[in-house]
Amino acid sequence: MNFKTIIEPFRIKSVEPISMTTREDRVRYLHEAHYNPFLLSSEQVLIDFLTDSGTSAMSSRQWAAMMDGDESYAGARSWEHFRDAVHELTGMPYILPTHQGRAAERILYGQIGGKGKTFISNTHFDTTRANIEFSGAEAIDIPVQESRDFESDFPFKGDLDIEVLEQLIKQKGAGSIAGVILTVTNNSGGGQPVSMGNARAVRDICHRHGILFILDMCRIAENAWFIRHREKGYSGKTYLQIAQEMCSLADACVMSAKKDALVNMGGFLTLRSKSLADACTQLLIITEGFATYGGLSGRDMEAIAVGLREVFQPDYLHYRIKSTTYLGDKLKALGVPILFPVGGHAVYVDARRFYPNIPIEHYPGQALVCALYELGGVRCVEVGSVMFGKYDEQGKLVAAPMDLVRLAIPRRVYTQSHIDYVVEVFEAALKERDAAKGFRISYEPKFLRHFTAHFERL
Ligand code: F0G
Repeated sequence: MNFKTIIEPFRIKSVEPISMTTREDRVRYLHEAHYNPFLLSSEQVLIDFLTDSGTSAMSSRQWAAMMDGDESYAGARSWEHFRDAVHELTGMPYILPTHQGRAAERILYGQIGGKGKTFISNTHFDTTRANIEFSGAEAIDIPVQESRDFESDFPFKGDLDIEVLEQLIKQKGAGSIAGVILTVTNNSGGGQPVSMGNARAVRDICHRHGILFILDMCRIAENAWFIRHREKGYSGKTYLQIAQEMCSLADACVMSAKKDALVNMGGFLTLRSKSLADACTQLLIITEGFATYGGLSGRDMEAIAVGLREVFQPDYLHYRIKSTTYLGDKLKALGVPILFPVGGHAVYVDARRFYPNIPIEHYPGQALVCALYELGGVRCVEVGSVMFGKYDEQGKLVAAPMDLVRLAIPRRVYTQSHIDYVVEVFEAALKERDAAKGFRISYEPKFLRHFTAHFERL
């Protein structure tokens, strides 16, 4: 029998209350937070879709393993468990634990970046781009053309444009390219998967030119689900085998364990080159911690070791991907313009089409984020011209290629009724769309402005 309802493949052992609020309360809270949901207190939020990062519910096995954490400064047993789990997945000889993904990025890009260097990616995540640019290097995004078409059912919209990669290498010279980064799944490009064929093609080009091939693998289990179900030749492989194959292509892997390792904090950097690993280990010790714990406590490393294995369980991955699709399908049926096909960890709404009445310079994505919060207490994030916009020499906004709103779904946290509620909030937002207004930015910092910017409603 094949039942339609995808049940959560777990029972709930411990619960955390949600504080209920009224629309009136939320209008006030959002005003006090300068219309930036990052500045809200989580107590003011009903359904938190801000991020899938560090928000997972851990399993009873992970909590049990945490009790067994070995907090020794050097050579802890928990480090060995962590190292073995990361090695099993990545196959890489050098493993550097870090407190989260961006710490691994800072170490790697601080080491190999710098002025005059270029990095090329399917799409740099915001912290990736910021760490690269902070080093003085430039970051270029070259997603495949198909990723710009919201409606097509192209199966791997996370792929990198191979032709453009070859052109860029020719134009810039291989020597100036410090690395090619494949982000799997492609978070800023809609959580879309990257095919193994694309990863292999990137690897071949990189190796031909002596360029470092880096995998940003924080959602590699979700990516493996798509490969198994969409790419020829993979239906007989396990999700873990697929992820291992992808890691085997890379020279370096960066992972924020806060995603597919099902934990609340953690990350790592893995490398094949001894000389690069030695240089990075120096930076690790100076800025994160000793080489056998990085920024992590022993109990964190235990939870990661268990989570990295749990995430590949077929029942979990099936539920994970299908429940994200459930939200996407319901929104699409309502007429909400979403990025299709639905990605792994989030549903992305095209705010430009949701609010055709709001000009891009008035940040339609921010308008939708604010509407969803005021109407229903749903918190989510703009991934568009607030996050990636720049200014030209005249101070005019150079908009991001897309203005998306991301509904990122924490792992194992919300049930189907929470999702049904979010769909109703969208129904309400659709009813009020004609009256919606855009925003202007009244305060912004130089880097990663979306976290702390202030807005005013126009
Ligand atoms: N790379 C990707 C693709 C990410 O999505 C993130 C984080 C990082 C690197 C940085 O990892 O947060 O552990 O330092 N993404 C979160 C998000 C913040 O909401 O998508 P981190």
